[in-house]
Amino acid sequence: MNERMNNLTFSGHDTVDLASRYGTPLYVMSEDIVAKRISDLKTAFESTGIQYGINYAGKSFTTMAMCRIVDGLGISLDVVSQGEIMTALKAGFDPKRIYFHGSNKQPGEIRYAIEKGIGHIIIDSDYELDLINRIATEMGHEVRVLFRVSPGIEAHTHELIETGTLDSKFGVPLNQAEDTILKTREMPAIQVDGLHCHIGSQVVDEQPFVLAGDAMLGLYKKLVEAGFHLEELNLGGGFGIPYLQGDESFDVLKYIPKMVAHLKKRFAAEGIAMPRITVEPGRYISAEAGVTLYTVGTVKDIPGLRKYVSVDGGMNDNPRPALYGAEYEAFICNGKDDERMEKVTVSGRACENDTLIESVELNAPEAGDILMVTNTGAYNYTMSSNYNRYPRPAVVLLSGDRSGVIVERETNEDVLRYDRIPDWMKGLTSCLTFHLQAC
Ligand code: LLP
Repeated sequence: MNERMNNLTFSGHDTVDLASRYGTPLYVMSEDIVAKRISDLKTAFESTGIQYGINYAGKSFTTMAMCRIVDGLGISLDVVSQGEIMTALKAGFDPKRIYFHGSNKQPGEIRYAIEKGIGHIIIDSDYELDLINRIATEMGHEVRVLFRVSPGIEAHTHELIETGTLDSKFGVPLNQAEDTILKTREMPAIQVDGLHCHIGSQVVDEQPFVLAGDAMLGLYKKLVEAGFHLEELNLGGGFGIPYLQGDESFDVLKYIPKMVAHLKKRFAAEGIAMPRITVEPGRYISAEAGVTLYTVGTVKDIPGLRKYVSVDGGMNDNPRPALYGAEYEAFICNGKDDERMEKVTVSGRACENDTLIESVELNAPEAGDILMVTNTGAYNYTMSSNYNRYPRPAVVLLSGDRSGVIVERETNEDVLRYDRIPDWMKGLTSCLTFHLQAC
């Protein structure tokens, strides 16, 4: 018999204690890890000596507390909806440091963003340029904008999250962008500050960014020559993280200096002043900062075939395996006397196959164990759902030795909150009554 193992810790906290204190399923986020990622990004840029910007992509994980952390660390925020803007503003985020994205922004959202003094709106299409110009003119405001351009670069990533190619709903195609942007010369309400592109997610080296930068440089140069006072080139997000041990990932300290060195050389060769280079990572900052804790329930052994280990969450709190075939690692958190690793399938409780992890080695999983899935800080909470009418988990933030709830656990009543019975059903108590009356 082995010695009793200790409970697993995450960011210095005993995960079993967290589960018993806050319940499961539970999202846990570490402020210390978020801060470390942001600090590494800053270090990488500082070493290059250029003007730079870091915008946290809020779509990967946004709550008021997260906005406070990001604000406190002095970086900017990329948002894609009025809901994300409201979250940031309610947390006290400086609107001037917010970039408003979205491929089909609604007129009401645009008005709201302008009214609140959002620093930059990223224009995604010709149609949107006209819409924003009309709204800004009506409101008597000047808006500062970047243009999102699809540069036709293919990042080596899952095709469903490839967004920088020409065949994409996002951005103005590179070959049409000049004409679109030149139209702003007749639009006093639109101040063009720069260009933006986003080539995809889970990029693991600098090469796709270098290619995208080169593609954008040509357009940038034409616009400068046409008299535009551009100051920013935003190369988007997409820095890859290692979901599984041994996965390749984007080493910011290595690749950002390489990417910047290349751009410096290219801008100098073209005789154009080096713009501020901005990046927009979401996953890189939030993914490894989060884990999800579950309680194991049913364990079903089908001899010779497979062992299913079911947990009290699943595709409701992490739809990524179902949507993208995303892979995760998991561990039993509670210490055990005996180490008996078994290959199992981890399933969620949703009423379909709901496979969270197809194959993982766990230590003698049994009902009541606490299971931790790692690297769930990005695109889990923000993509969660109430499928099967399950309430969403709570989110707990760890900061040093402190822990506290930053999003309350939903209740069944919360899930029912917006249900209404229409007038014509009122007073009818059963299907039987309904059918009798219908006759
Ligand atoms: N900037 C823009 C304009 C974006 O569209 C995105 C992601 C980012 C930045 C941040 O990308 P990141 O650094 O987080 O990879 N739900 C998918 C990811 C969709 C990403 C959409 N845009 C997933 O779970 O993998």
